[in-house]
Amino acid sequence: MDSSIAPGTGPGTDAGPDLPDFGIPPRLARRMSMAEQYEYLRTKLTRRRALVTAGMLAGGGLLTGCASGTGTGARSPSATATGAVHGSAITPFGRHLAFGADPKTQMRISWQVPLAVRKPYIRVGAAPWDLSRKIDAELRDLHTPGLTGIRLALDQYYLHAALDGLRPGTTYYYGVGHEGFDPASKEHRATVGSFRTAPATSPDTFVFTAFGDQGVTPDALANDKLILGRRPAFHLHAGDICYADVNGLGDTSDSFDPGAWDLFLKQTETVARSVPWMVTTGNHDMEAWYSPNGYGGQSARWTLPDNGFDARNAPGAYSFTYGNVGIVALDANDVSYEIPANKGYSGGRQTAWLDKRLGELRGSAEVDFVVVFFHHCTYSTSSHASDGGVRAVWLPLFAKHQVDLVINGHNHVYERTDAIKDGRVGRQVPVGASTDPTRDGIVYVTAGGAGRSLYSFPAGVKDSYEGKVADRESVDTYQWTESKEQHPETVEWSRVRYTGYSFLSVEAQAGATPRLKVSALAESGRRVDHFEVRRGA
Ligand SMILES: [Fe+2]
Ligand SMILES: [Fe+2]
Repeated sequence: MDSSIAPGTGPGTDAGPDLPDFGIPPRLARRMSMAEQYEYLRTKLTRRRALVTAGMLAGGGLLTGCASGTGTGARSPSATATGAVHGSAITPFGRHLAFGADPKTQMRISWQVPLAVRKPYIRVGAAPWDLSRKIDAELRDLHTPGLTGIRLALDQYYLHAALDGLRPGTTYYYGVGHEGFDPASKEHRATVGSFRTAPATSPDTFVFTAFGDQGVTPDALANDKLILGRRPAFHLHAGDICYADVNGLGDTSDSFDPGAWDLFLKQTETVARSVPWMVTTGNHDMEAWYSPNGYGGQSARWTLPDNGFDARNAPGAYSFTYGNVGIVALDANDVSYEIPANKGYSGGRQTAWLDKRLGELRGSAEVDFVVVFFHHCTYSTSSHASDGGVRAVWLPLFAKHQVDLVINGHNHVYERTDAIKDGRVGRQVPVGASTDPTRDGIVYVTAGGAGRSLYSFPAGVKDSYEGKVADRESVDTYQWTESKEQHPETVEWSRVRYTGYSFLSVEAQAGATPRLKVSALAESGRRVDHFEVRRGA
């Protein structure tokens, strides 16, 4: 079952199955934080030796490699050796790229192997036939215990290589391998991929794309293919990445299938092997087994920029600059009123970091635009509506630093607001219009149509999008309060609504009149929205 809700229903109606193996009534589980759930699962499942494999009892493979390049918990390449299966029979999959903190000089290459391998590495060079530079990879393995009648135990082996000191604006070719599997060999040369570092100075124009709430579906794959065709410099994934945790309530009773990640990374490889895939964490990305805040799994699968408030434990918060655009990724589980399993886990450190980082970006001579993306909606009228926690904690900072664009997911639709200032419409921004954040306020985009089953808008509220505009004066919706109640509100800012699989495509232009040309594309390729952001226009 998808998320916590079905299309057209209120959120929170699906508490998930009450799994006897976990043994906590859902009502109690809902009051537990992620840290309490982690302790519970560790105590309970570790005691149940019948459910636990020898690999888990060996200990080392439990929670290794959550360090995002810090080396803590990671095992050396030689430690991956088992010798049980020859390396030539083990094929890497799920290649995915991500920028380091400096996209001009740093790239991180990650992938998966189905079995343990000896001496994993990457080869990299300036041409597909010259992959002479060889760099060792780091293993971060995950063990997930089985649950009687629900799932088998699973070991997953993720490999990561860090490339530093690259030349800006340069195309590199790379191949991933291990003992017995050489990507430079004739046999495996077809597996070689490529990427391009950010240019040293802002390009005249470049494109980046964004969406959230993907999962493994034909629509998710269709969106990926369309994104690849637009040749973006990078992609932003606003969380609810894979849905291995299908309930996403942050409850102990959430069912969890780690094997879904294998399918997800295979699907994503089609685009992420050449497009840096910059993810952040949604409610479905809290996986209580792996670490006290639930992000141990994410840290094992992804290497993201290590410049957030706590790169080791909170991989979904980071920042980077590409051309004239500064990007900030946030972990909204830290502030969500709706799903509070991780609320407050950073102890305010994330918000303090956000304030500092936005100030740095706004003060940077090379940055024209500041874009922030995270999971829970600041302003949306679809099923989950708006999260009062996001508004209470982060909106003052967005206003203080005049953020230019906010991108969210969580609601599985496309919705885009007018420019909002002090909580109300600062200026209407119809399809095709231009807006100035220094004058009008901020436009908020919900781009949650990546692939998971779609939601809907309130009863009687029609879609309104490019080519089919159906404006209305207001929409009756609600926002989540700190006491987890749905506080009704009637809003005038819901400018564009599209119930369909879709993603955001942003063309950044530099020069005398910098601008962000923002478009939303349906999975058919049809444009369903566009508007422009210009500062001081
Ligand atoms: Fe979702
Ligand atoms: Fe979500």
